[in-house]
Amino acid sequence: MAGKEKKESGLWEYSPAPESASIGKIAPKYGLFIDGKFIAPAKGRYFPSINPATEAKLSMIAEADAADVDKAVKAARKAFGSWSRLSASERGKYLYRIARMIQERAREFAVIETLDGGKPIRESRDIDIPLAAAHFFYYAGWADKLEYAFPNRKPKPIGVAGQIIPWNFPLLMAAWKIAPALAAGNTVVLKPAETTSLTALKLAELFSDCGLPPGVVNIVTGAGATGAALVNHKGIDKIAFTGSTDVGKIIQKAIAGTTKKSTLELGGKAANIIFEDATIDQAVEGIVNGIYFNQGHVCCAGSRLFVQESIHEEVVRKLKHRIKSLRVGDPMDKNTDVGAINSKAQLETIQKYVRLGKEEGAEIFQPSCNLPDKGFWCPPTLFTNVSQSHTIAREEIFGPVLAIQTFRTEAEVIAKANNTPFGLSAGVWTDKGSKIFNLTSKLRAGVVWANTYNKFDPVSPFGGYKESGFGREGGLHGILPYVQF
Ligand code: NAI
Ligand code: MG
Repeated sequence: MAGKEKKESGLWEYSPAPESASIGKIAPKYGLFIDGKFIAPAKGRYFPSINPATEAKLSMIAEADAADVDKAVKAARKAFGSWSRLSASERGKYLYRIARMIQERAREFAVIETLDGGKPIRESRDIDIPLAAAHFFYYAGWADKLEYAFPNRKPKPIGVAGQIIPWNFPLLMAAWKIAPALAAGNTVVLKPAETTSLTALKLAELFSDCGLPPGVVNIVTGAGATGAALVNHKGIDKIAFTGSTDVGKIIQKAIAGTTKKSTLELGGKAANIIFEDATIDQAVEGIVNGIYFNQGHVCCAGSRLFVQESIHEEVVRKLKHRIKSLRVGDPMDKNTDVGAINSKAQLETIQKYVRLGKEEGAEIFQPSCNLPDKGFWCPPTLFTNVSQSHTIAREEIFGPVLAIQTFRTEAEVIAKANNTPFGLSAGVWTDKGSKIFNLTSKLRAGVVWANTYNKFDPVSPFGGYKESGFGREGGLHGILPYVQF
């Protein structure tokens, strides 16, 4: 029915926009997406985005400075007037249209996500891109129901949101940030991470193609200095940040004493807890998914494994056997389980932790892998003989590295699991519902999975305690940071 008006549920007329000439293509160079147009950065500076699996250059990305950020914030401010006054159901229609167009272009997004970031194509195709569309669908539904969501409280948008996202789930994090902001009537200036700007820029093309009014979403690319310029801009009403705890602290200091609101999604060091009554083979799959999914570049990765003493030997044996079968290599191969490490810098960080693990006396296991000559690679790694005081058990590694400890009793594992400055997520594997309830109420973690791991859905809120940040994304909770009463 392309080009024809198509009735959707009797609610509105949906006519697919004409296909953009840029579909399926990575341009050699990308400008900044400001006020609905791609423009050159004021200083004319660009930096390369590479494929971490081959080290080949994919494109040149504009580096925005404070003057460019200022332009983007002004465009967002100007657009805020009419966008916030638009009827809520009209705003919802734009979000539905964005969601559909992401689905229509899912293959393109998946390929670019994998080329630019190194994650296995199976994950971009089956998880990242469908979930990004799902977030737009979900928040599209809330747009005209906010009065019901917050009864008698007259929710109003906040204004211009500055959003800074990391490189581990580039398009998905953009969706997590943009969808609730727009649904509530805010406008956005988004800064993607410097190693993975491409899918956000493709999303900018999609915004143009779907007729989203200019200035409603602006995308400024660049590294930390660009992010800092956004944080410090006086015209920003709210900062939403996902990234390292260190930068989260810098942002908190920078906005202290201003009226800017903030939500911070920071690091994690999740406990994944396996009781002796768990279904062991299923738990082993859960451990693998918990730490080796997306090369362990996951803030909620199950990086601290706690195994009940009686089954330690069996679990470690089965786990070693299982990780020998993981395929490490070309992210574009549909059979790949573990792709490339996102950047050289991140690989060096991971290697530093692997060295520290050995130096501090833990015992390492890595299957032998045929790794490509070029690119950044780390085989799936596990450490046994780990104690609470080891660096690899305390700090976020953000790589495919698992630290295994044991426990005897429920009380002991709760104490050990909570003995961390982080509090983002946890996993519990047991046959007993009572144990699940006991642990979910005592673990100080924003998300606790039971007999599963790394499952995401736009309906359920996500966020941390302690140094893992504050504020929630997803669900109705995810709209709260974008409204005022
Ligand atoms: P990062 O926190 O520096 O980068 C995240 C985002 O913040 C990027 O878009 C970056 O350009 C921006 N940024 C950097 N400095 C900024 C500043 N001063 N003001 C505003 N924005 C700024 O994280 P990085 O260096 O890429 O990774 C380092 C470690 O951080 C990782 O090893 C991992 O442990 C952790 N991390 C955690 C993430 C999470 O989802 N919890 C995501 C990314 C990194
Ligand atoms: Mg890249």
